[in-house]
Formats: sequence, structure tokens, C-alpha cells
Amino acid sequence: MHPTEVLANLARHQLVDGYPLVVDLEQSKGCWIHDAVTNEQYLDAFTCFASWPLGYNHPGFEDASFVASLERAAKHNLSNSDVYTAELAEFVDTFATHVTPEGFSHHFWVAGGGLAVENAMKTAFDWKARRLGRSDYLADCSDLSILHFKQAFHGRTGYTMSVTNTLPDKVGLFPKFKWPRVHNPYCVFDLDGEVCNDIEAEEARACSEIEHVLRNDDGTHGHVAGILIEPMQGEGGDNHFRPEFMRALRGYADEFDCLLCFDEVQTGFFGSGKPWIWQHAGVAPDVVAFGKKAQVCGIYAGSRVDEVEHNVFTTSSRINSTWGGNLVDMVRSQRFIELIIEGGLMAKVTALGEHVKAGMRRISRETGQFTSVRGMGTILACTFDNADRRNKVLKALFERKAIALPCGVESLRFRLPMIMTTSEADELLDRFEASVKAAAATASV
Ligand SMILES: Cc1ncc(COP(=O)(O)O)c(C=O)c1O
Repeated sequence: MHPTEVLANLARHQLVDGYPLVVDLEQSKGCWIHDAVTNEQYLDAFTCFASWPLGYNHPGFEDASFVASLERAAKHNLSNSDVYTAELAEFVDTFATHVTPEGFSHHFWVAGGGLAVENAMKTAFDWKARRLGRSDYLADCSDLSILHFKQAFHGRTGYTMSVTNTLPDKVGLFPKFKWPRVHNPYCVFDLDGEVCNDIEAEEARACSEIEHVLRNDDGTHGHVAGILIEPMQGEGGDNHFRPEFMRALRGYADEFDCLLCFDEVQTGFFGSGKPWIWQHAGVAPDVVAFGKKAQVCGIYAGSRVDEVEHNVFTTSSRINSTWGGNLVDMVRSQRFIELIIEGGLMAKVTALGEHVKAGMRRISRETGQFTSVRGMGTILACTFDNADRRNKVLKALFERKAIALPCGVESLRFRLPMIMTTSEADELLDRFEASVKAAAATASV
């Protein structure tokens, strides 16, 4: 099909509300998306919603044995939970060795980040039910719940809609469970990167709400099976929590016999400069859901799950899906892992993040248009006065052929390719600065 016909053709059959581009899969290179209609290049600071780690047509994808393996896998679509292959075993071994931290021996694979989180929740429900002495599959478990946070985004699937609460268009008009939702005590940063809000008061408020739920003082909360949190809330506004707060959550999960579940669908897989963003705070969870950049979605879990003998990782059919993840995604994920490790990309993205944050802080100081520059590695954000100003900047940026994302009510986020060079980062900063100034000029007219 000719590129000029793509959008109109699609629109006849489905909703076409994405970017007005037709990606040329051959000519797009590195951080640059090539539009097949206009032949313009767009600088990619959105990375397909934080899901595409190493840019387009990475030279490492030319490797003959990788291409052969990809082709072998692509000619089939096996149900990976039932029949096993060398490709599956090599991927699992690579992931478990280089991506999963020490101490987490259980893995489960599925397609889709929402389903990954949903299976983390199922792990917690099953675990808690059995801790309460329930083993009859007909037992009523409707008193179990997941404690979660305001401004959380965990997906748009069945269970996850009950714990997602960003923009109401995502979960409104669908039936949901009334599970306990508590305050999210996130940091606001000054231009030196120091926390500048009263974070201790914020955390005290959250902890008091959590304790109220966990103690079940008023008898309305039943049994909390899991505490679910994004260690940094992405969609909700790139909200960072202090290690002190994560430690408090660990303490609550231990004291009140529930699983601490981290949703790293958006933050995991090396983009923060470590395999997982939770490793920056050093507070280990019981279960982690992942997806996006990893290509394959799923969960990994540690030894606390084994305190229940018949847990979901040892009992057939409790968590499963036909395909158990997709073999092509697994082969591609394995190659990404190899390229990230061989290229020393974790250290490189740490430096990249510091460079871009310094540039954003300079622009903030000079224009006064935004605050709270924050993030690590490829996961960066800042906050404007209001949504209108933020949206104008994003629009101006797109007109200048760079793509970034909104988050929260009035924040803007960059999700950078891990291979971005310093000169490409400077190009992004130039376009960002021009966009901020252009948006400010329209606001003052
Ligand atoms: C933190 C988080 N959890 C879960 C999801 C859902 O992932 P998916 O869209 O792949 O279902 C997302 C997607 O943006 C996410 O950011």
C-alpha cells in the first residue's frame, strides 16, 4: 500500500487517533522515526510509550544467528506453556541471569503489561487466601483486596481497572471492585534536584491511611492480599517516592502478611540505569510485574511466595495463558539484553539522564516556564503550571519534529532511546527550548 493511503485506509476500519505519521520501518534509524509520507525525520523521545529500548534498525539486529533465530520463531506461534523450545530456554536463562535480580527464582510470561500486573495481583490473592487457611476452590474470597495508590496506572484489564485511577476515560463506565486506595506521597524537586515539598508530612498522611486500611479498624476493608505500587508512577505524573516510604511499605507488607507488588511495566528493563527502578531505593518487593521495553510481559517473584506450599508457581493452571508470551518477542528481548550488556548501556543512560536533566534545568531557569525536573536515565519529566501550557509545548515540539509525552495533569515526560547520543540529546533540548518559548509566546498574546 502506498504510504499516502495508509491513514485513510486504516480509518475506514478502526480508530486512528495516534500520531499523523506512517513509520518507514526500513528508513527509520536509531533515534529517528522516518515518516514515509513526508520523508521527514522525527526525533523519538517517546519510544512507543517507553516500550522500544534501542531505537530503530539497531546494527546489532543484523547478526546472522539472531536473524535466523527470529525467523525460526516467527514461522510458528507455539503455546509456550505446553511445548518447550531451545529459543524459549535461552531467553528465560538470559532474562533470569541478567535482568532478574538475585533472590527471585519464579517467572511467568504473558502478552500485555495489564495482564502482567493482573497476574501479580492473582499471585497475591492466591497466597493470602491460602495463608488464611483457605484451600477449597469454592471458598468465598470476595473479602480479599489490593491496597493501591492515587494516580496509579496499572492497565485497562479486568482487575487492573480497579486499581487504575488516572484519567477517568480509561476506567469510567466499567464495573470495578472498591479496593482501598490511599494517598501517594510523591516528591517535588527544586532546580538543584532537592526534594522541596514537605515530603515527611505527605508520607505521614499516606502511612496513616495505609495503617487504617491494614488494621481494618472499622471492619470495612477485609483482608489486604497485596500492596501494589509503581515504584515511580509514570502515567500518573512521573511521581517519585523516597526510599524511606518504600521501606515503610516493605514493613507493612511483612507486618500485615501481604505481598509487596511492584508494577515496573513502564520503569523496568534498564531504562533507569539499573535493570529495575526499585533497585535505586534498594527496597526489595515480593512480586514484580514487567512489560514494555522487555518486549515480553510477565512477573518475577521471590521466596516469600514459597511460604505457601501450593502457590501459583507450583500449581498448574492457576495463572496461565495459551501462548505464555510470544516466542518472537522472547528472541528479540534476548537480543536486546545482550546488546544492553555488551554495550555498557546502563552506565551510558545514567550519564545521558544527567546531561538532559542539566539542560532542562537550564531552560527552566532561563524561561521560568516549568519546574520539578526529575528522573533517571531515559525516564525524565518536568511540570508546567497547567495542562494547557504543557499541551502547547507538546504540540510545538511535534511541529519541530520531536515526540514527547504528557503525564499526570500538567507534566511532560521524555522516554529516551537508550542509544541516544549527547549530540542527539542536545538536539532534543534545542527543540524543547524553542517549543517552550513558542508556547510561552502564544500564552502571552
Ligand atoms: C505502570 C504500567 N502498568 C501497566 C501498564 C499496562 O500495560 P499494557 O498497556 O501493555 O497493558 C502500563 C502501560 O502504560 C503502565 O505504564
